[in-house]
Amino acid sequence: MFLFGVDYYPEHWPEERWALDVRLMVEAGFNVVRLGEFAWTKIEPCQGRFDFSWLDRAIQLFQERGMRVILGTPTASPPAWLMQPNPELFRVREDGHRLTYGNRREYCPNHPLYHAHTREIVRAMAEHFAQNPAVIGWQIDNEFGDRCYCPVCRAGFQKWLQRRYSTLDELNQRWGTIFWSHLYSDWDEIPVPLSTGNSPNPSLALDFYRFCSNSYVEYQKIQIDLIRQICPGTIITHNFMGFKYEFVNYFDLAADLDVVSYDCYPRMQWTMQAEVDPGWQALAYDTMRGLKGKNYWMMEQQAGQGGWEQLSVMPRPGELRLWAYQAIAHGADAIVFFRWRTSRFGTEQYWFGLLDHHGTPGRRYAEIKRMGKEIASAGMSLLSTTLKAETAFLLSYDVRFAFQIQPNNPQFSYPAHFYHLYQAFHRRNIPVDVIGPDADFSSYKLIVAPSLYLLSEHLVDRLNQFVRDGGVLVLTQRSGVKDETNLVIDEPLPGRLGEACGAEVVETDSLAPGMTNSIVFEPTHWREVPPFEVGVICDILKPISACAIASYTQEYYAAQPAITLNHYGKGQAIYIGTIGTAALYDEVTSWLQQRLRLESILDQSSNIEICRRQGESGEFLFLLNHTNQPQPVNLEFDYTKTLDDQRLPAGLHSLPPKEVWVLIRE
Ligand code: GAL
Repeated sequence: MFLFGVDYYPEHWPEERWALDVRLMVEAGFNVVRLGEFAWTKIEPCQGRFDFSWLDRAIQLFQERGMRVILGTPTASPPAWLMQPNPELFRVREDGHRLTYGNRREYCPNHPLYHAHTREIVRAMAEHFAQNPAVIGWQIDNEFGDRCYCPVCRAGFQKWLQRRYSTLDELNQRWGTIFWSHLYSDWDEIPVPLSTGNSPNPSLALDFYRFCSNSYVEYQKIQIDLIRQICPGTIITHNFMGFKYEFVNYFDLAADLDVVSYDCYPRMQWTMQAEVDPGWQALAYDTMRGLKGKNYWMMEQQAGQGGWEQLSVMPRPGELRLWAYQAIAHGADAIVFFRWRTSRFGTEQYWFGLLDHHGTPGRRYAEIKRMGKEIASAGMSLLSTTLKAETAFLLSYDVRFAFQIQPNNPQFSYPAHFYHLYQAFHRRNIPVDVIGPDADFSSYKLIVAPSLYLLSEHLVDRLNQFVRDGGVLVLTQRSGVKDETNLVIDEPLPGRLGEACGAEVVETDSLAPGMTNSIVFEPTHWREVPPFEVGVICDILKPISACAIASYTQEYYAAQPAITLNHYGKGQAIYIGTIGTAALYDEVTSWLQQRLRLESILDQSSNIEICRRQGESGEFLFLLNHTNQPQPVNLEFDYTKTLDDQRLPAGLHSLPPKEVWVLIRE
């Protein structure tokens, strides 16, 4: 079943209201509801005394109307009775400050006492609901993240290091602790990189970030193991925060789950802008699909304004539905809106649900009710379909962590750089998979690996092999700089990636704000184009077997190569040594598209996003107009619009603003 539903907090509303809410949900076409996520004190009002009666009654109402339930484990929001007497359970921030009670996610993920309480509540819930047929799945905790620097984490880090390096000699050598006399002679001496200690040893910091990430993976595993054992066959998920979140290695966090879920809020108080850039969402969706290499769920799809202290820009008419279809277009097999009705109290008073505080259905409810009807007819057939891409973008959380420690240039942002390259593909409707370093490369024609700053020997070998086998690899500035322990390698950059690239980095210039350079393409290797402005980082390249296809125009390195292209084995590698504007990435992407014959889905010159899901039940084309103007669509064949079952003959059509068509060929 295509899951279509909403997040509901029955504990926030008088029980007399529940039946009306359930009826309105059913009328909106909802078939699933997420419950329980932050209800720890309501379920376990004091230690060891559990009260499920209210939740049973709520679930019963849903069950009677044929709706399914996903239960959240409530561990993101611990009770005051647990935290107040045990201050050591509070997380310690990077600046050494220990959190106090009053928000959520305040706990240390490594504390044994927190683990014990987690086991108790999760076991009690799982045992209570194991036989309830309405409960089809579980969401573990809520949006894992944030590093903890407390003494328990420090001791855990030291043990983790012991397992990783076995001996202190090995650790000292791999981290280069001889620098500033940091040689450790006992595991207990190893600190955590508090910001009060100033800029840390980069190897220590990277390992600590890995340890922190792994702490959540292991904490999640405690809950997964219990639920799997008590409720075999259930579906277990966690709600992730998309591409932009970067403190947990999401590939690792996804590994133990059945399905990845995503919480998507294009309009929030923290992203106040008149227009939403659909490319950022597309990248988030492709990343969520990439974490397990399969379709994902939307667990929190925006349902209204998103704010805590401020009101965000109101989602424009049509946007909620459009964003939900965009998620489906990129591989979502479930859409669950956050939240049902806007809370009258608590931190999230201005985080709007489908219903306003007053609880009477309005414009947003009507918009989603329309979608409910469409999903009821089209949803099922989408389930057996997914996206296929010839291009992969390689995402590395080790690289993200390493750049957090040493950004290299204050203007450089790895996620933003990654996005700017991705955006050039998105604008052309070229399908992209986002993959991790361990993914199978063999099905791709092209791998784009933005600033692959830190990588293992194994990954170097695999990328070189990919090119030898006929693939095209695009690398950008500051690639191959570091080994896995965050030491700078002792060869010319980009190290052994130079085998595929056929070029070396002679020097790297780092530009101050306001400083720019520009590059010109060599007419012998490229079509005639005007110069492109570049900046931030300039790797000055020396071709070995590669040819220079663009060179700098200014500075002491004027006329020296900025971009090289090398033929290696059956494939090619391009090294773009500097950061350009969208124009440069558009230029390179067009060239790649032509050369590699990368398919743009339904090649259109207008400003619409197009995705294709295909599989057993056929081929579905999603046409999404994110703009405020109608957009022309020229169809070569006859199609049916599956959402309203209308025919769309070949020829010129107009896709209205904020509208979506899901087409199937006749
Ligand atoms: C999400 C979170 C929800 C809710 C929402 C609005 O990140 O999972 O529980 O808090 O944000 O702030």
